[in-house]
Amino acid sequence: MNQQTVADFLVIGSGIAGLFTAIRAAKHGRVLLATKGELLESNTWYAQGGVAAALGREDSPQVHFVDTLQAGAGLCLTDAVQVLVNDGPQRILDLIELGARFDRDQEGRLILGKEAAHSRNRIVHARGDATGAEIAELLAGHAQKTAGLTINTNWLALELLMQDAHCTGAMFLDRQSGAVITCRAKATVLATGGCGQVYRFTTNPSVATGDGFAMAYRAGARLMDMEFIQFHPTALAFEENPMPLVSEAVRGEGAILVTASGRRFMTDIHPWAELAPRNVVARAIFDVMQEERVYLDATSLGDKFPQRFPTIFRLCMERGVDPRRDLIPVAPAAHFIMGGVWADTEGRTSIPGLYACGEVSCTGVHGANRLASNSLLEGLVFAERVAQALPHTPEVGDRATTPQTPNTPQAGERPETAAVAHPAGVGYRLPANAEEEAWCREAAAEIGDIMWQYAGIVRSAAGLETALSRLAALRRKEAAGFLPICNMLDTAMLIATSAYERQESRGGHYRRDFPEEAAEWANRHVVVTREGCQVVQNGAVPHRPW
Ligand code: FAD
Ligand code: SIN
Repeated sequence: MNQQTVADFLVIGSGIAGLFTAIRAAKHGRVLLATKGELLESNTWYAQGGVAAALGREDSPQVHFVDTLQAGAGLCLTDAVQVLVNDGPQRILDLIELGARFDRDQEGRLILGKEAAHSRNRIVHARGDATGAEIAELLAGHAQKTAGLTINTNWLALELLMQDAHCTGAMFLDRQSGAVITCRAKATVLATGGCGQVYRFTTNPSVATGDGFAMAYRAGARLMDMEFIQFHPTALAFEENPMPLVSEAVRGEGAILVTASGRRFMTDIHPWAELAPRNVVARAIFDVMQEERVYLDATSLGDKFPQRFPTIFRLCMERGVDPRRDLIPVAPAAHFIMGGVWADTEGRTSIPGLYACGEVSCTGVHGANRLASNSLLEGLVFAERVAQALPHTPEVGDRATTPQTPNTPQAGERPETAAVAHPAGVGYRLPANAEEEAWCREAAAEIGDIMWQYAGIVRSAAGLETALSRLAALRRKEAAGFLPICNMLDTAMLIATSAYERQESRGGHYRRDFPEEAAEWANRHVVVTREGCQVVQNGAVPHRPW
């Protein structure tokens, strides 16, 4: 059964970026917001620590700018960071005006928390450690009441629609009715979030399978900095998917990391100890874990723990750990991707008619390593800018469209295995019976294992070659024709290919065979398209303005 629909603006994804874009864009035209699960199912809902913005008396956008650049390890694009830190405070005030109940002290002032690599207290939070839920529920409620905004849940985007190299909408599978729906729009906004699920250990919920990266790649978009994955140092170390997070804010309140034998190790590694940048803490824990388990000792917080961190307290207690008395077992887990679909500061991608914002995009705000709590802020700031830009999207004549056929990346000097064509093309299906579901479960687990082992916290050329060849072999299996496996494979391949290309260590990307930051890689970004990989200076992605 095929159906057709039209909108002025199509927004894909219902996290902070998609919801905020849709609400703001509804002032300018008819908006259709489609999301693959329930409205609240997103990384956003799970966010704990908060949103960073220069709201404190001793803070300023300039100080936030410097901290963001420092965390980004030489790869942030400064124009985008300026936008982030300058627009940030006003976007928080917008949320408050919409009704966000951020935590306040007895005098009614916003309580500003501290997280790693921030030189000031600037993290706005809600319900202690349920900031994401507060924001997602608030925005979802507004979206449902916004005139001119139609919401379709359980609509899974399959492919972007392309005509004459312009994006003209997207094709969806209605997971409830089974109908395939073609939605044509003057402009399409990708707000599909991240891809933690391509790793065996992740904090990201099941929707984070990298669909947006894969669809954009297949449509011919440019993706940048895909090698930079942020591994959060402290997920709760139980074999679960996703792994519950123990927010960095817990370390911000004084918790320390210790080995099973009780040794505090971060003081030997970085002057900021437990509040060193995430990549430093994650790798230190990873190293210690080769020998012994690692724990977070938050006992110094005592009874303050359940008050300040009610969600994390519950998550621990449900697993038999009382943080007031017990050490909390922790381990790193894939958490966030700094790279993504290249976009300018108005969210315009390299494909006319296609915008991207939030985690799926790469404006260069995070460089090689994201500063904690800058992601929710990114979602808000760039969603607003996309919404302002949408009415100015140029028209593309006749919009009768056909999706572009996926193509083969030409790998240049990279191993041949990077260049494996997608076997199935468009028309992916969901597994329809127990046997197909089992294939997909096995394939997802294998992708997770490959990526964790060979494209994870510590990488090498040999390991990445193994990853690429095993991913290529997986493409030849039946499961590769099913969703979400095809998207996970494309996204994993983009990460591993980019990681192979960058022969140095920087931020979230660590190569055992190139363990130092290399001066010649400063300001250089790996850009991947269907045509292959390219290294560009200062994010200067060749871009025809549209
Ligand atoms: P998401 O919130 O992930 O939303 C993506 C949406 O796209 C979802 O609705 C999804 O269902 C939909 N979607 C995906 N694919 C498709 C498809 N094919 N078709 C249709 N819809 C699709 N950041 C901070 O700044 N502060 C924090 O305190 C913080 N804590 C975090 C805690 C956890 C446990 C996690 C996982 C992340 C945290 N982050 C935090 C990161 C932050 O939450 C995310 O980066 C941010 O929420 C991303 O927002 P988004 O709108 O881009 O994507
Ligand atoms: C956390 O609360 O530690 C997560 C914050 C973030 O990912 O920015």
